[in-house]
Amino acid sequence: MNRRQWFQFGAAAMGALIGLVLAVPGVAYLLSPLLKRRTDDSDFRTLARLGDLVEGQPRSFSIIEEQRDAWVSYPATPVGTVWLVRQPPDAPEPVIALSAECPHLACKIKVSGDGKGFLCPCHASFFELNGSRVNRISPRGMDTLEVEPIDPTNPDAEIRVKFHRFRTGTEEKIPLA
Ligand code: FES
Repeated sequence: MNRRQWFQFGAAAMGALIGLVLAVPGVAYLLSPLLKRRTDDSDFRTLARLGDLVEGQPRSFSIIEEQRDAWVSYPATPVGTVWLVRQPPDAPEPVIALSAECPHLACKIKVSGDGKGFLCPCHASFFELNGSRVNRISPRGMDTLEVEPIDPTNPDAEIRVKFHRFRTGTEEKIPLA
């Protein structure tokens, strides 16, 4: 290579390097929303305190989330409902959490008229207060949700629940991605 060719080669290499330096942040900026963790429905969230619940009287709590796709955030909206049921003192867990989404076809489950269980108004699935099935319309019992360990002696203990949604119409409880 003569001197002129070396110079051309050096200029081209320098141009490529500058282009690369400029391109990397741009590409990183464009990709960052895709790489960021989505508003995640797998985190524990505080729904109530132990003292807010009365044994055998379910209370429902809305799950509010800010929806986000790759580049756009949307205002926080309800994405689900959780029933919390305070358990008797001798129960292994002081509180159970049940998704209000019916495992049959996703209608919203309510407390039954007599308050002794749950009812899905769409096709009359009945469930016990612990979420197990009374009739066999729904393919499985209500979906239980994970609750962080609670000190049962502390009425101020926070009830923290990991909200998740599950596939409907299946006997097996299959988490949605
Ligand atoms: S959606 Fe609940 S019983 Fe059908």
